[in-house]
Amino acid sequence: MEFMINGGKKLCGAVEIECAKNAYLPILAASLLCDGEVILDKLNITDVSNMQDILRLLGVGFKEQNEKIIIDGSGCKNALIPAKLASKLRASILCLGALVGRFKRARVTYPGGCDIGLRPIDLHLKAMMELGVEIEECHGVISCDGTKLHGGDVVLDYASVGATENLILLTVLGRDKVRLINVAREPEVVDLCNFLNKCGAKIVGAGSSEIEITPVKRLIGREYAVMKDRIVAGTYLLAAAITNGEIEVRGVNSHFFTSLIKKLCQSGCFLDVKGDKIRLKSGDLKSVGFLETNVYPAFPTDLQAQFVALQTIARGDCVVKENVFASRFKYVPELIKMGAKITVSGNVAFVEGVPYLTGAEVFATDLRSGAALVLAGLSAKGYTKVSSAEFVLRGYENFDEKLRSLGAEIKLVI
Ligand code: EPZ
Repeated sequence: MEFMINGGKKLCGAVEIECAKNAYLPILAASLLCDGEVILDKLNITDVSNMQDILRLLGVGFKEQNEKIIIDGSGCKNALIPAKLASKLRASILCLGALVGRFKRARVTYPGGCDIGLRPIDLHLKAMMELGVEIEECHGVISCDGTKLHGGDVVLDYASVGATENLILLTVLGRDKVRLINVAREPEVVDLCNFLNKCGAKIVGAGSSEIEITPVKRLIGREYAVMKDRIVAGTYLLAAAITNGEIEVRGVNSHFFTSLIKKLCQSGCFLDVKGDKIRLKSGDLKSVGFLETNVYPAFPTDLQAQFVALQTIARGDCVVKENVFASRFKYVPELIKMGAKITVSGNVAFVEGVPYLTGAEVFATDLRSGAALVLAGLSAKGYTKVSSAEFVLRGYENFDEKLRSLGAEIKLVI
């Protein structure tokens, strides 16, 4: 599967942003905890269909009605999640917290996900053990016994998004009050807590580094509007910037874009925020000099590759430091094929701006790298072929169609 792109077209117009993958997946896992139906807007990306396959195996029912999916967890059963399903995505591990939370026992296998560095789950398991869960890891199967689950304080060594979400799912139906300290503050974590609270949970402090959970006996499924995807929206804004275009992204919460907007302004773009709309007009692109990723509210690691693509054609040099994942520069050799000047040393990339990129055949190595190569192809002179496009479909809904609606010459070849 590949994207064929004829570059050099300015992007113009407006685009509606879809639900956030990284909020949607934990909310799907949370449906395992609910009695009655959970109703969400549809999100047509492969990570969601892979998560649905896991939930179906656990007895969850899915119905589609108009633009909604209706999720019925009442028939949910406790079963081993096999590696062939779990290894397709990182979020599969979130079923662990939900299953132990609901059934007090679970057996799962290790999650998959983008190859952007070692992605252990030690923080998840360590914190669960601190709350009384007995864990055995054997031949790739993680067996958990939560019959002695208790309350108390847990301090995370690192504000991991996944570990925070798993502990919330584990304890909402627990026995005693729990305080989670040094937790992730990402908006997607807050969205999970908002969903659970709407279903009857008692969670306070989401969005801060301390979350308190008072357990409840039951959660009732509800209809919920999942937040829109700030990473997808950021990708479209960067697509407009790199093509010297002018677009508006719609349906987003602009509070989540502070770090990105700051860097886009430093790059010479003009931005205008009105309500749930962010408008960008590209300008004379210049280097931002330095950028580093970190946990929210710092610059998101999931926009690092797309931002580097922009910096490749900005006037001046830029140093980009990746602080969240150990090896998230695997796309660099592909950008160099297109004429970019980048050197990487450990978790730091040095980008020397060049006047333009030239089309080439490049290979996506993961979801966000694939998106960055599409952006580079949109700006490049001539044709670009981005192979392994299936990586991009994991997290972008109708990416080629939406880009075409903004004036891009791109098609997905299956
Ligand atoms: C979530 O991954 C997102 N995925 C990632 O998005 C995102 O990049 C990441 O958070 C950071 O924002 C989903 O929500 C499905 P972490 P997660 O636990 O939960 C280390 C995308 O492109 N760590 O905060 O895996 C880990 O190795 C994806 O949409 C441990 O060492 O992120 C990493 O270096 C990519 N031990 C760092 O912490 C652990 O037990 C951050 O991981 C857990 C994490």
